[in-house]
Amino acid sequence: MTISGDNRLAGRQVVVGVCGGIAAYKVCDLVSRLARAGSKVQVIMTRSATKFVAPLTFQALSNQPVITELFGEIKQECVAHVSVAEAADVFVVAPATANIIGKLRAGIADDFLATTLLATKAPVVLAPAMNVNMFSHPAVRENLTVLRERGVIIIEPETGRLACGTSGKGRLAPVERILAGIQEALALPPLLAGCRVLVTAGGTREAIDPVRYITNRSSGKMGYALAGEAVRFGAAVTLVTTPTGLPVPVGAKVIPVESALEMREVVQGLFDQVDVVIKAAAVADYRPACPAKQKVKKNAGQLTIELVRNPDILAELGQRKRHQVLVGFAAETNDVEKHALEKLHRKNLDLLVANDVTASGAGFGTDTNIVTLYDANGGREALGLLPKTKVACRILERVAAVLPAR
Ligand code: PMT
Repeated sequence: MTISGDNRLAGRQVVVGVCGGIAAYKVCDLVSRLARAGSKVQVIMTRSATKFVAPLTFQALSNQPVITELFGEIKQECVAHVSVAEAADVFVVAPATANIIGKLRAGIADDFLATTLLATKAPVVLAPAMNVNMFSHPAVRENLTVLRERGVIIIEPETGRLACGTSGKGRLAPVERILAGIQEALALPPLLAGCRVLVTAGGTREAIDPVRYITNRSSGKMGYALAGEAVRFGAAVTLVTTPTGLPVPVGAKVIPVESALEMREVVQGLFDQVDVVIKAAAVADYRPACPAKQKVKKNAGQLTIELVRNPDILAELGQRKRHQVLVGFAAETNDVEKHALEKLHRKNLDLLVANDVTASGAGFGTDTNIVTLYDANGGREALGLLPKTKVACRILERVAAVLPAR
């Protein structure tokens, strides 16, 4: 099974809960392979799991501090900002003991793993491993049936020799099968199948001379998250991006640009051929009036650069809009709602995503964002602190809901 470069795993937040069973050592391989595939892996161990494998092993393999069930020992950085449950794209428990299976079925939250499992809205994958008699016990069978009915993906154990010396069904499934279950859980519904989505990303560069430019703090992460998630929702995606150094979202067509004028030309040229435009790029409002053909030399005096207005690409699209769904962003530092609503209406948008770029964990350069969505019908939805990938999913779900009416 090839997993490196798989865009279902790369960049995903995978929580791996490890319970106390001899098969815990096999989960080291699972964590290592997820990390190599580009997933961000957060390991949670129960107290008994730490008797089988040292937390340090998982820490080294996942490159992240491991959360043990001992609340007092949880390091702040492990859980700060985004709660583990909320940040998860998928939640895997391996080996899943009869104990955790019973707790999840019954809604018992008496340690960190059980609590986080109940709190998450992410898809859950359980890979049971236990003694053959335990696995065939009616209570365990019934618990698994109920969990399956609730949408939990169960990776059936294998039949073979068990650590307790007996033989039968109860061996942890091979890592390949668990990975396949994780990939299945990460697949998104094809909400945007057949839809052509254009996303802009990054901060434009406005040339002063051949070696210098004016730009802003945009890293491109928000736009790249949107492009990547739109591909996962089944859309044909074109990403118009300034130079960012970020990995290209697998499956998206990338068109590189630098300045606002270049971005305008590309976006205007493609507008009639797309169904959705999402302008996450931070476009410079001004550019140097006359970029020098040669490097500007320093001298003793001051240097004044005259700036002229750039066209507002999004406002122009708003004028031309026919069937397209238009989504704009507003990067604000004050009076967020007032500015957001002004942009929503003036630019004739369907959805405006406002971020207060002064808030911690929001805006430029971060992996997370805090946004409020304003729609053309007067709707307002504030999202809490979320990874940019999740913010992207929420925006795209809103877009998918508007599309059929067009
Ligand atoms: O890239 P990251 O580091 O992940 O940061 C994400 C982000 C903060 C850049 C992103 O979330 C964001 O807010 N992008 C929009 C930034 C911005 O330019 O906001 P604005 O309020 O200046 O512009 C409003 C909208 O008009 C934007 O959709 C912008 O793309 C568009 N615009 C602005 C000016 C212009 N001349 N042409 C435009 O199309």
